[in-house]
Amino acid sequence: MKQLPEPFRIKTVEPIRMTTREYRLRKIKEAGYNTFLLRSEDVYIDLLTDSGTSAMSDAQWAALQMGDEAYAGSRNFYDLEATVQNVYGYRYFVPTHQGRAAEHIMSKLLIKPGDYVPGNMYFTTTRLHQELAGGTFVDVIIDEAHDPTSTHPFKGNVDIAKMQKLVDQVGAEKIPYISYETCVNMAGGQPISIANLKELRAFCDRYGIKIMLDNTRTVENAYFIQQREPGYAHKSIKEIVKEICSYTDGCTCSAKKDGLGNIGGFLAMNDEDFYIAAQAEVVVYEGLHTYGGMSGRDMAALAQGIRESVETDDYIRYRVEQVNYLGTLLSEAGVPHVVPHGGHAIFLDARRIVPHIEQDEFPAQALAAAIYVETGVRTMERGIVSSGRDPKTGQNRHPKLELVRMTIPRRVYTESHLRFAAEGVIELFQQPQRVAGLKFVYEPKQLRFFQARFEPVTAVAETVLK
Ligand code: F0G
Repeated sequence: MKQLPEPFRIKTVEPIRMTTREYRLRKIKEAGYNTFLLRSEDVYIDLLTDSGTSAMSDAQWAALQMGDEAYAGSRNFYDLEATVQNVYGYRYFVPTHQGRAAEHIMSKLLIKPGDYVPGNMYFTTTRLHQELAGGTFVDVIIDEAHDPTSTHPFKGNVDIAKMQKLVDQVGAEKIPYISYETCVNMAGGQPISIANLKELRAFCDRYGIKIMLDNTRTVENAYFIQQREPGYAHKSIKEIVKEICSYTDGCTCSAKKDGLGNIGGFLAMNDEDFYIAAQAEVVVYEGLHTYGGMSGRDMAALAQGIRESVETDDYIRYRVEQVNYLGTLLSEAGVPHVVPHGGHAIFLDARRIVPHIEQDEFPAQALAAAIYVETGVRTMERGIVSSGRDPKTGQNRHPKLELVRMTIPRRVYTESHLRFAAEGVIELFQQPQRVAGLKFVYEPKQLRFFQARFEPVTAVAETVLK
């Protein structure tokens, strides 16, 4: 298989450094077998995340020079506001420094203690802010999303019967909104369909429940709709993005992904009262409502990035097909991973790659550590460690999906980088016994995956991860 040629050429390069296996083994031990605790300099190809890791275009770098760093009323704010209104179609815009800040403000304003917040699978920071506001998250994604082998084309869809069940159990007045995510990250970057969203809209209208979009990866989702959903093949990405947003009441967004920003986020909505309340919260936690934690130049680069993400369909086609290229190399070698391939990452199925490791010994965490040692490629765990503990029982949650995410930064790596990463994973896949389970030596209370430290479970494991 060939990768689609990039719709850009390279103007600036950043050197990266290959290290020895011995060096990396020392570094992963120092990092407590947690790839989040490695130094970037010690990584050869960084597939940790697609968040804030995009390469900016020449137009974005030029926009940085046009930063208006006024405390109040920066021209870059008005440009970003107009861009968000134009691309996503919401009436009101409130900037934040990144996505979780928008989630914090929205959760604080919309959730009352004792409420339930359904969602098409959880996202780590999103659920935490719901819980901190006194809410309980309820997963209403279709069952296929929890099955890494199901080839359902829209595994991000909501199961309306699960919504009905929740309404019947707790009452619609206890459900302020559904958190609806495009290209569901924890499911493997799996898209939602317009048909599902329309059906959900009708359902929510019946019960007075809002739909709040997690707009972080809507452009990638629009590409899948264009490719897969009847009636959308001839619509532009720009049109589809706007249509998705039009069925929702507002959104939170981490603009560090689709938006091609290195930092930034926002809330957007159509309801004026919610807008005014959100502006009042922003000044408490983020900064004035005309910068929300971003500098003027950040807002300038972001506005340009958001425009570029939908300006032509070529960019997003290249982007999603590059992810598909990596997935196809792994498919050809029989390495188990989530199918269909998602929009931002390939998710390795640790349950099937290292079946000898019990879930309580963190198979995906161990596999991510081993991939780093063997190849210098940094990936991340998306399984039991990310899932955390149930706040009521204190017990570990045991998600069905136990995954290692190979996340592709936008416009950063070439075909040969991805081939190198795939070859390393394929080699390790052929000797899975090299990977051994881990146990906690330090477990933070919240979002533990970021800072947790581990060690191998047995002395044998030491030699296995050697
Ligand atoms: N929602 C989704 C779907 C996300 O993927 C993220 C971040 C956030 C919200 C939070 O946004 O990081 O700007 O505060 N995802 C990153 C990742 C961290 O690596 O998947 P943030």
